[in-house]
Amino acid sequence: MRVFKEKDYAAMCRRAANLMAAQVTVKPKSVLGLATGSTPLGMYELLGQWCAAGDVDFSNAISINLDEYKGLRPDNDQSYRYFMETNLFKHINIAPENTHVPDGTRDDAKAECARYDALIEELGPIDLQLLGLGHNGHIGFNEPGDVFVRDTHRVDLSQSTIDANQRFFASEADVPRQAYTMGIGAIMRAKHVLLIASGAAKADIIQQAFFGPITPHVPASILQLHRNMTLVGDEEALSKI
Ligand code: F6R
Repeated sequence: MRVFKEKDYAAMCRRAANLMAAQVTVKPKSVLGLATGSTPLGMYELLGQWCAAGDVDFSNAISINLDEYKGLRPDNDQSYRYFMETNLFKHINIAPENTHVPDGTRDDAKAECARYDALIEELGPIDLQLLGLGHNGHIGFNEPGDVFVRDTHRVDLSQSTIDANQRFFASEADVPRQAYTMGIGAIMRAKHVLLIASGAAKADIIQQAFFGPITPHVPASILQLHRNMTLVGDEEALSKI
């Protein structure tokens, strides 16, 4: 595992944005696995600026997002499709038809998960998979449990995830209880995994995930087995490793 310990959030974002820009520069038709959440916001902003300046080109890139809330329409401002459009896609020159997010409006979970896995199979393997890290060790919405789930699946969000995401909703009751998430299999098949983390609140889980036992109770711990894993964090997040 490669570790970049950066002095603060801004430096972390710059490092991660550089790694993604390098990926699409070296391989313009890269398949990028993308994440939502607070952590990638600064990185996405930089990529937008660099793209506008002509320093990075996403015109041939393909993106596959990790997850989406079940039940939210793409135009709902809490949906992950909306997040990606607002915070990244509309600021870079990626072709809209080359961006993929699970369809939260599809009620038939089996069909939607099968569709998404077939898409990953057709377009993948993912060249660069960006991940954030949940406080409970989740990656995507692969929540702690007794097994690692390989394929895309519908997940019941854990109370800790509902609590963490409540800040984006009017009230806790508005946070969706289910989501679709890419499974651990597609993440582990990615050629390069880039996990980003910021802030003291992530320090304990970073330590457990990368230096504790490999267990589905800390889903990110499986990344210890990935052969091309890069961790980029600020000093606070990496203070315990
Ligand atoms: C988002 C995702 C989640 C987040 C994680 C960390 O697509 O898959 O696993 O990466 O919950 O979220 P933040 O960055 O808000 O701390």
